[in-house]
Amino acid sequence: MYSLLLLFLLPATLGLAVPRAGRVTSADERIIGGFASASGEYPYIVSLNLTLPGGTGLCGGTLITDRVVVTAAHCVIDPELGTLLSAKSILVGVGSQNLRQQHYVRALEVHAHPSFQLPVSSSDIALVVIEPVHASNGVKAAAIYAGHIPPMTRLTAVGWGMTSPTGGFSSVPNSLQETELVVGSQEDCSEFVSGYESSDGPQICTENKLLLGKDTCQGDSGTGVFITVDGKRYLAGLTSYGANLLGDPTCALDDGFGVYTRISYFRSFIDSVAVPAKKNTAQDESHKQLNQEEEEEEEGEEEGEEDVQDEGDEEVD
Ligand code: ARG
Repeated sequence: MYSLLLLFLLPATLGLAVPRAGRVTSADERIIGGFASASGEYPYIVSLNLTLPGGTGLCGGTLITDRVVVTAAHCVIDPELGTLLSAKSILVGVGSQNLRQQHYVRALEVHAHPSFQLPVSSSDIALVVIEPVHASNGVKAAAIYAGHIPPMTRLTAVGWGMTSPTGGFSSVPNSLQETELVVGSQEDCSEFVSGYESSDGPQICTENKLLLGKDTCQGDSGTGVFITVDGKRYLAGLTSYGANLLGDPTCALDDGFGVYTRISYFRSFIDSVAVPAKKNTAQDESHKQLNQEEEEEEEGEEEGEEDVQDEGDEEVD
């Protein structure tokens, strides 16, 4: 069966054992041990609906400006061919935490980090430039967290992840799920992630044993992972992969680990895409405005609308 090809080929491309044959779909195989997020809590989370040569796939992403979505590089790379997906094969679902109530925005550009390679390793980050979206109740840009993320820090992961090889789209939870995760120790994490020096590097590693029964899972990839500081939520990472030391990718194993790309480590990559994307649209806008003036048309911004960029620019230390 070709549907969800991306999701179910990934464990194999990671060089990890493929899920046990005959594994049944159950609710505990989604974001594990989580609950449905309150409506409107995550207005920056988007779904990435992917058309692959042989089927479809689902990942998540986070709006960091009104036109830039950050996601995992492995989400935008064809798992069979190893090539970048074209913009027209990505539909970005925005405006609701309920998958069925989202509206779709077209992708215009896709940029995977130049150092990323399959099987999934470090630099698992990509940016998708979309048609600009207006801020509303369901749409806002997330602020990026640039501070330290020491061991034992509590993070919140969200996603529409699913794992059933037979359930297809019917096993997608419509409502965005969320769960807590705890950042692991340098000692344990360096056993799982080669070259792991600390959670302040390119990757954040979480250990399931620190909070049993909670984990992200297949289909959550690319979706944001958050930290709350002084009551404000910031984007800290994105879901990349997970398994135990034996390479078993079954989610939420007591001895399992999760690996999350640390967003702020890739600031210059983000700027290299987000800054020109903003400029291009600014040029388009002034061009449009000129034309409008010629036509003597006046159209004010709708009240209550604001530039989402302002939010996304914010950082904390
Ligand atoms: N690579 C997976 C995806 O494409 C995410 C897996 C996360 N797994 C885990 N055990 N934390 O959706």
